[in-house]
Amino acid sequence: MEVFGRGRLSAYPETSSMSVDLACFDPRCRKRYGIDEVIYQCPACGGLLEVDNRFGAGRAEQLCGLWTRRRSSRDPLDVSGVWRYRETLPFVSKTANVVTLQEGNTPLLDAPRAADYGGLKRLQLKHQGYNPSGSFKDNGMTAGVAQARKLGLPRVACVSTGNTSASMAAYAAAAGLQAIVFIPHGNIAYGKLAQALEYGARTIQVKANFDQILALVRRLAEDLGIYLLNSINPFRIEGQKTIVIEMLDQRGWQPPDWIVLPGGNLGNVSALGKGLRELKQLGIIDRLPKIVVVQAEGTAPFYKLMRNPGQMEIQNVENPETLATAIRIGAPVSWTKARFEIENSGGRVECVTEQEIADAKAIIGRCGIGCEPASAATLAGIRKLTASGGIGKSDDVVAILTGHLLKDPDYIYRYHTDKLEAPNGTKLTSTYGNQPVVLPNDAKKIAEFLDKLPS
Ligand code: F0G
Repeated sequence: MEVFGRGRLSAYPETSSMSVDLACFDPRCRKRYGIDEVIYQCPACGGLLEVDNRFGAGRAEQLCGLWTRRRSSRDPLDVSGVWRYRETLPFVSKTANVVTLQEGNTPLLDAPRAADYGGLKRLQLKHQGYNPSGSFKDNGMTAGVAQARKLGLPRVACVSTGNTSASMAAYAAAAGLQAIVFIPHGNIAYGKLAQALEYGARTIQVKANFDQILALVRRLAEDLGIYLLNSINPFRIEGQKTIVIEMLDQRGWQPPDWIVLPGGNLGNVSALGKGLRELKQLGIIDRLPKIVVVQAEGTAPFYKLMRNPGQMEIQNVENPETLATAIRIGAPVSWTKARFEIENSGGRVECVTEQEIADAKAIIGRCGIGCEPASAATLAGIRKLTASGGIGKSDDVVAILTGHLLKDPDYIYRYHTDKLEAPNGTKLTSTYGNQPVVLPNDAKKIAEFLDKLPS
């Protein structure tokens, strides 16, 4: 099968997968494995795996020039906001394995109203919700699916709070792979479930939470030879790192002071941290932005770990709860990578309440932008950090909005009609509510109503 889209197939860059290994992320182990071994954890110590690209400096100008030139190309690989940067993804040596839906190419938007709310002079929003399936998962999924095709594995699976399953279902459909999706029964937003169904994934709703199902599916995948495309898969992380590469490209390779993102399973912070470190290795940026992860109060094990200097291991949250269902995860798989990236960049971890998420989300909506609840944790976290002095008013900040507004319309309707309740039953305040009004079919009455509206 060939690359989807118009135009001729481009050659893969001079780098080849021969020079790339899988390596254990744990510095005490660092054992290496072949790039095409189907493993998700280090067989020696159980640590997380990463793709070790071993980039060196010296090609910065050449690479940046090449990536700029590709913006005027119609080659599908160049049009993709992931594969345009394929020199950073040398594990794929043949274009024939790539399936692109023109992922990436997401905007970096100025949002003055959100900046003001967050206590900043300026705030940029990198909106990953503009991806083909409406979330940041697409950047990683195109890479994970390329690896599945390279390995010749026809069945792929994931456990998901919704976005991973929507994305995997889309890419598997485009690639002709069978997709099997596991989701927590009753706890995903309908927009996301609808996508998995429409894209044709076999969808299994399990009566358990995300963490319990992930443990189950990891065993099943191994026993049944199904390729697992959760963010524990290091190739997903490779694709996701292009989010920061594209963002820095949009900023003329000028790093911001802070990058703020929501944290659930902690794959994305791991990916963004790796991407930034590799850009520095390549000599493309000269300093690392500080990374901030924001968690929801009812499911904040990483926040607790990082706030407690004496705590060495993460303590899982048994019953994670938040209306931001995308990040309703109590046992984050990638916490060791995430801890490294936060510490290495001098970053922070914050946690926010349901009310803070809901209000921040409404403000992002009022910018004409909008996002799903988990994404709004970023602005809520920024507001807290500027109030406490952790982030300065004049600092240069980019927040990553991870999912599209329409992923969870039920949440939006409830907020604006003053019916939103936190998982513990507490009613949330509709601080920036915008109630629809019901009027009779009567021009005079409607004109009277409009007359009284404040301008
Ligand atoms: N924001 C959104 C919209 C998400 O869907 C997720 C994760 C996150 C943030 C957190 O990212 O897990 O890398 O820390 N969603 C996963 C899923 C778990 O199954 O769709 P993370």
